[in-house]
Amino acid sequence: MATETTQAPWVGRPLDRIDGPGKVAGQVRYAAEEFGPGTLFAHVVQSTVAKGRVRAADTAAAKAVPAVVAVWTCLDAPRLARRQVAEYDQPALKVLSPPYHVLQDPAVRYRGQEVGLVVAETSLAARHAASLVRLEYEEGGAALGFAEDAEAFTPDSLMVPLEPDYRRGDLAAGFAAAAAIVDAEYLTPAEHHAAIELGATVARFEGGKLTVHTTTQDIHGARLCLANSLSLPMEDIRVICRYLGGGFGGKNGTWPHTVLAAFAARELGRPVRLELTRQQMFPLHGHRARHRQHVRLGATADGRFTALEHGISVQTDAARRFVEHTGEASPMLYAVPNVAVSHRGVACDIPAPTIMRAPGAAPGMFALESAVDELAAALGIDPVELRLRNEPATDPETGKPWSSRALAAALREGAGRFGWERRTAAPRSMRDGRHLVGYGVASATYPANRLPCGARVRLSADGTATVETAGTDIGTGTYTILAQVAADALGLPPDRVRVALGDSALPKSPGSGGSWGAVSHGTAVQEACAALRANLGGATDLHGALKAKGLSEAVGEATATPPKEKKTANHAFGAHFVEVRVDPDTLEVRVPRMLGVFGVGRLVNAKTARSQLMGGMVWGLGMALTEATVLDERLGHFVNADLAEYHVPVNADVRDVEVVVLEESDALVSPLGAKGLGEIGIVGMAAAIANAVHHATGVRVRELPITIASLAGEA
Ligand code: MOS
Repeated sequence: MATETTQAPWVGRPLDRIDGPGKVAGQVRYAAEEFGPGTLFAHVVQSTVAKGRVRAADTAAAKAVPAVVAVWTCLDAPRLARRQVAEYDQPALKVLSPPYHVLQDPAVRYRGQEVGLVVAETSLAARHAASLVRLEYEEGGAALGFAEDAEAFTPDSLMVPLEPDYRRGDLAAGFAAAAAIVDAEYLTPAEHHAAIELGATVARFEGGKLTVHTTTQDIHGARLCLANSLSLPMEDIRVICRYLGGGFGGKNGTWPHTVLAAFAARELGRPVRLELTRQQMFPLHGHRARHRQHVRLGATADGRFTALEHGISVQTDAARRFVEHTGEASPMLYAVPNVAVSHRGVACDIPAPTIMRAPGAAPGMFALESAVDELAAALGIDPVELRLRNEPATDPETGKPWSSRALAAALREGAGRFGWERRTAAPRSMRDGRHLVGYGVASATYPANRLPCGARVRLSADGTATVETAGTDIGTGTYTILAQVAADALGLPPDRVRVALGDSALPKSPGSGGSWGAVSHGTAVQEACAALRANLGGATDLHGALKAKGLSEAVGEATATPPKEKKTANHAFGAHFVEVRVDPDTLEVRVPRMLGVFGVGRLVNAKTARSQLMGGMVWGLGMALTEATVLDERLGHFVNADLAEYHVPVNADVRDVEVVVLEESDALVSPLGAKGLGEIGIVGMAAAIANAVHHATGVRVRELPITIASLAGEA
């Protein structure tokens, strides 16, 4: 762009994505495209019951289809050894990328489960033949409901350090001291990730070694899963994912289709490609769990919180029983002396839920930030002011100082920019013509984590450099920001830096997730560049030193490891302000204005950062108004399993979105000063919209998405 200057420092600048032109021109290859001549195509056969056993299979018609090479069901597929050959070096990996002993067991645990596989010379033949497989089931006893009295279990642990049952202070005393108490239940539906790119794997064996191109955010997790599923040593498996068409957490874990492709490739001795259909993505690729949350929040008459109780119930599957860490923000966000947060799972015969953008906080903060708004109304205190009155000086959960905390600054800056002072407190008190107008606010927060990460940098005598790490770019801008980081560290323009990502042959990475990608990979690249400089005797002019030594290349490699004990509480913060307009006759809700103000540390790239924050806010709009997957509680399938009926926001839904990033640099989170910002944009947005809808209409909607029916039902 002509407006950009062309000098260091490159970190912070709004550089265009370096992978953009290749993507637009169709020159880069996604996993599903990484196949050549001789590749076979596989299609999954799915169960048509939610619970039971496959009793018999008739595969004759499927086998008779021309070009079909193999038809297997869980009754007759080749047997797999069940050996754990690789260690799960992070607890979350056991949940997200467990071993899948595919097609070994006739048990059916959810409708849509993989119970067979057809492999053919063409994808159409495989899909057609799969439709001809006839299975008989012993069926019955599926638990599909999520009623209030459903039997719940307490998980042993959560995916984050928070205990499933967190307590501090004396809850009863806290509520006894309250002048006002909000006591309410909030419901959120199952939601699906809806990445444009479908889940896909191409697998091939050569000389006993497996190479897999697959759609994953986490190369290491996929490799672990394949190793333990197929009893193959890690070193015999190479996993590659150079480009992803969206991940959003759905591609953080590994799913059975990836194992099925490798299994078939090994059995048949030919490369196998397996791409799920959009409909298959719904049961076979994870979703955000349906939630029931009970919040009790008390405050004194002058608006000091005295007690918070946050009870979380999550509908999960019966096999993996993943319970989301939905209450993660509740112990740390506000100064509340007495707090209880509990997590429960309700195990059902449904497809497995998983993490989705801002796991934990996205559903959890809908409940908490709605309750704060309800309490503000009950107390007659402005909802921005109520939040400001409960700012904790240090982290109330750990007692540690904040690495940095910009919540109050975001609330103040946002209120000023938005024109919050124009808001009149009473519901239904603002109008524009015939439309009801509402203003809503909510806080946002997300942990600022950094994980151990490896990187290697090569500087060549021709004045170019190559950065290598197994980390992935899920569409967020990782290629671009790592070129910027290396450019500053090496004294080169970023167009001289090539970035290689997404390959298990490269230094190990924690993958892209948890908003830790930029800080983990960025720090590793900085340290690899420092190692390279040290290898050249600490030279200032690296290129000159290379020439003087007569070298064609210098290499630096490092594993950047954050300190084991954190001395500070590290989180990103923000505040959302939204305006809604509600048609008083049709009850249609529109959102003409959304403002997000964030304290997310130093930006590595102002353009990709803004895109991430904006993308999160837009998803929050979808969460508030359109997104829900509906489970048929008689038969166990998601009834709206495609993008025609699962509604993500489109351009007509998204009007004026403003993203403001406060000046902040947080060296305690990362040497880059960055905090990570891939997820915080969605956190709290649904509550801000629900709060604005209440302000506009006087109707408090506690169940997402907010629909015309939900407004009509209560109005
Ligand atoms: Mo992200 S939901 O942590 O992959």
